[in-house]
Amino acid sequence: MKINIILFIYFVFQIGFSQNKATYSEQYRPQFHFTPEAKWMNDPNGLVYFNGKYHLFYQYFPDGIIWGPMHWGHSESTDLIHWKQLPIALYPDKLGWIFSGSAVIDKNNTAGFGKNAMIAIYTYHNDEIWKSGKKNTESQAIAYSLDEGKTWTKYNDNPVLNNSEEQDFRDPKVFWHEETSKWIMSLAVGDKIKLFSSSDLKKWNEESTFQPDNDTKNLGVWECPDLFPMKTKTGETKWVLIINHGDKGPNGGSCTRYFIGNFDGKTFQETQKALWLDYGTDYYAAVTFSNVPDDKKIVLGWMSNWQYATKVPTETWRSAMTLPRELELIKNGIFYALEQKMVNQFHAITKPIFSQKTVSMPFSKEIDLSQTEITFDLEKNTDEFTIEFSNSKNEVFKIQLKNNEIITDRSQSGKIDFSETFANTRQVMPLAGEKVNSVQLILDKSSVEILLNNGRFSMTNLFFPNEDYTILSIKSSPKKKLKNLKINSVSSIWK
Ligand code: FRU
Repeated sequence: MKINIILFIYFVFQIGFSQNKATYSEQYRPQFHFTPEAKWMNDPNGLVYFNGKYHLFYQYFPDGIIWGPMHWGHSESTDLIHWKQLPIALYPDKLGWIFSGSAVIDKNNTAGFGKNAMIAIYTYHNDEIWKSGKKNTESQAIAYSLDEGKTWTKYNDNPVLNNSEEQDFRDPKVFWHEETSKWIMSLAVGDKIKLFSSSDLKKWNEESTFQPDNDTKNLGVWECPDLFPMKTKTGETKWVLIINHGDKGPNGGSCTRYFIGNFDGKTFQETQKALWLDYGTDYYAAVTFSNVPDDKKIVLGWMSNWQYATKVPTETWRSAMTLPRELELIKNGIFYALEQKMVNQFHAITKPIFSQKTVSMPFSKEIDLSQTEITFDLEKNTDEFTIEFSNSKNEVFKIQLKNNEIITDRSQSGKIDFSETFANTRQVMPLAGEKVNSVQLILDKSSVEILLNNGRFSMTNLFFPNEDYTILSIKSSPKKKLKNLKINSVSSIWK
């Protein structure tokens, strides 16, 4: 009798456990975008390259598939594409939950934790204080690792930067500024960015506040800034300030924009109007890796939106990161902009399955679109086209070029009713008078990343069809031709 009871309990546990166990073949599980093995994930954190490995820490709640007390999850990769899941790096403690932040390699041992210590600079969010309605909820803290991010020691005298008057005071991104021999931290503070400097990562001085003139209003709370220099092809240096915003993106909800300007070691001054880094609803909390060889700037975003992130129809895990994209700074007359290109290593997991030099539209093909890269160029003066991904259930995701705008439509794309805002019939990306000449579409089970004109325009969207899309159709009116159509399958990183 006793044995029966024990066996019964054992089986109940087994069933419960196996239901929650990741297989990486669950419906909607991205096959070549990073997802945590199980449970909730949001922002990428502590992106840093060290000793041949890229480290991706991330906002993580190990006890559920909705947001909760935050930890830093951890994963590493040698190629930015294949990721190894690692144990949790930072746990909440009496000072608070571990919110977003960055990581640096302390090459000169400025903090005294050891030469080449990996140092995380993160926000403590104290939920007790927050619930009490007081404002001093958030502060900045540091922790170090001497074994490539495997184990961490929190600094004894945390926090290193105490709360301000503002309740939202978070997401420190830190870099070493050679010219002044100081660490510079950009921090989101209410609806401003504040810059601080330090010689040891422990004592911080406020340097300046960035709040652009005549700015777009009501972009919600400002979050996850990132300030860094970039060079154009001709060697001119400009500074880029990425800012993520909690609300009122171009198509609703969370969004990411960037300013281009100058930085003198203390103050950032924008020299042109802000641009959106991505127009889709599913690109947020984007920041770059630090310490990458050859000063490459590689940006990674969270592929979701606070409007519905906690409701999307996945059960084992929630949320994925975008593909890592390398940034380039281009200059056109007096105008600067960023282009985003999928990192080179991505091409190593793609395999050609179809290609045709010249294609008359309408073009239609039955093909498994679940893990696919599609690229083509356009005939001159193509002002209109419609691309559709569909399946035998007549579910369809549409991308349209019309009136110098790209419009995506996921109102018939499959499951949409888990959130009122998800279907949002038209998502629009204005092309500011530029003609579309090249298109790259990367589909991975439940997402598409759309890059136009070498990554000058970017739009990222999620979708949840009831079965994978298997029909690709591209048409135009008046009839035009596509050039260099290539369809590649993309292999899974988990198998
Ligand atoms: C952005 C954000 C950050 C914060 C973290 C909390 O998505 O709200 O500002 O640090 O997520 O998980």
